[in-house]
Amino acid sequence: MTTVRFKKLEIEAYEPGKSIVKKIKRIIKLSANESALGISPKAKKILSNKKLNFTRYPDGKSKKLRDQISKKFRCNKDKIICGAGSDEVIQMICQLFLNPKDEVIVPQFSFLMYRIYAKIVGAKVIFSKEKNYKVSIPEILKKVNKKTKIVFLANPNNPTGTYLSKFELVELRKKLRDNILLVIDDAYAEYMKNPDYKSGLDLFKNKKNVFILRTFSKIYGLASLRIGWGYGDKKIISALNQIKPPFNINEVAQLAAQESLKDAKFISRSVRHNLTYAKKIKKFLEKYDISSNKISANFLLLDFSKCKLKAKLFDQKLKRQGIILRSTEHGYKIKNMLRLTVGSRADCQKFIHAVKGIFN
Ligand SMILES: Cc1ncc(COP(=O)(O)O)c(C=O)c1O
Repeated sequence: MTTVRFKKLEIEAYEPGKSIVKKIKRIIKLSANESALGISPKAKKILSNKKLNFTRYPDGKSKKLRDQISKKFRCNKDKIICGAGSDEVIQMICQLFLNPKDEVIVPQFSFLMYRIYAKIVGAKVIFSKEKNYKVSIPEILKKVNKKTKIVFLANPNNPTGTYLSKFELVELRKKLRDNILLVIDDAYAEYMKNPDYKSGLDLFKNKKNVFILRTFSKIYGLASLRIGWGYGDKKIISALNQIKPPFNINEVAQLAAQESLKDAKFISRSVRHNLTYAKKIKKFLEKYDISSNKISANFLLLDFSKCKLKAKLFDQKLKRQGIILRSTEHGYKIKNMLRLTVGSRADCQKFIHAVKGIFN
């Protein structure tokens, strides 16, 4: 018997933040930028109260959820498409726009799924250099040519935590050719309280050549339910609906997402928690010469270049105690750094205690 031949893809598969350490039961997972406070009480309540029926297919158009999103973010429900995570929306965008030989520009250290999905459909991925781990507009513009179809950008970016200001984003859109789609991934927008920041959605709601990505996996705490959404021109949304798997979002995810959008209290509590603990941890690590990015989203990129310990060793020592950070070496190819998610109060305290133990 032979294996039927399939495409040979030159892709480094996505490796998610680790969640287990052999022989350790109590794990503190600070490796995947998940919500520190879990899911919203409103979402929890509806999931436990509602008599859920798993026999029927879910609403393939996620109508109630799109209504709720449009109310909350004051945007047009007909310009929204929901996906099984924003991940699936990235995949659909690549399927819809890219032909083999088209070019996609992604900043050097940007979120990995843009390059993966672009490569799967045969497009060429072009990397633009960054300056001090921040996206550089001139470097993106240098890479533009006739074949450029999409520029992908996470703002703030994962894993670097840096971001383009509202002025820089507007400047980038102005300087890019009109027929290049600018995809702005707002995955961490809710955490952002920096005065020079504005989300892609707020800036470009009415632009036909900007597409926005949003997720329920981060501040809304629904990572496991796989739900996110995209926002763009009606014509793009209608074409995406033609290629979308018919029932991509399950009923539970739709319900939980609707409820979590209503829970403004939980969102502001999460933002406050994040700021408090990001500040605390940042300051604490500076004592050991571990520096990090200016606070932005719910994670910090830790730089060990001035520290007496190498990132790898620090990571191993924490892992032995069941505390898992995200290595940035694999995939992102950033050496001697680690990405740390801001966890719950208890998780942060245990992290601080463990670090003290390592250095003393
Ligand atoms: C910038 C960015 N975009 C998208 C995602 C994926 O989100 P989702 O869970 O909605 O697929 C992540 C997850 O880490 C991310 O960091």
